[in-house]
Amino acid sequence: MERLICIAIGYACGLFQTAYILGKIYHIDIRKQGSGNLGSTNVLRTLGKKAGALNLLCDCLKCIAAILIVRAIFGNSYGDILPLLSLYAAAGCILGHNFPFYLNFKGGKGVAASVGLVIAFDWRIFIICAIVFFGLFFLTHYVSLCSVSAYLAAFISMIIFGQRGSYHMDSYHMIELYIVMGLLTVLAFYRHKKNIKRLLDGTESKIYLSKKNK
Ligand code: G3P
Repeated sequence: MERLICIAIGYACGLFQTAYILGKIYHIDIRKQGSGNLGSTNVLRTLGKKAGALNLLCDCLKCIAAILIVRAIFGNSYGDILPLLSLYAAAGCILGHNFPFYLNFKGGKGVAASVGLVIAFDWRIFIICAIVFFGLFFLTHYVSLCSVSAYLAAFISMIIFGQRGSYHMDSYHMIELYIVMGLLTVLAFYRHKKNIKRLLDGTESKIYLSKKNK
């Protein structure tokens, strides 16, 4: 039951669609611009760097907020499985972000929210993901490639740190943790399926921080 409550809290936080709100402020529908995705990359592409950064910050913060709320509620009674419940909160947030019921379940790809997940969950994973993301970004300028690669790095890092005893949970709950993170990684790849196809076709759009993007 506590897992469902964590997912529900996360889902509610994930419903805050920054890209949609920013579009409303600028009188455009982000879903009809660029890639059509309600995410930071498409906001940057459509509204510029400042709006893209703001979008990234807000989507990241909503996931951190979901995790902090869950920790405040379950910290005392479920302290032994708090990392797992935190991950369920983040999963709920990513589901709310990707599938908002009030936008016909068409949201974003969950990458910025996942940045919030790794920041709140384990800062070492955040550092690893940031190195993978920016290393690839400066080499290729394909944000989608950076996103899915960083996701894979997060999954592998979580297993490595988990196996070293970082999260202080029994093996049953550790396996559950890996399964939830594995499912989130599969979801991230699934949400990027069009990007992956374009990457393979050589038609994926590149993002440059120094000039205007299309
Ligand atoms: O986080 C989304 C990013 O990886 C790709 O976004 O707009 O190029 O589909 P977009």
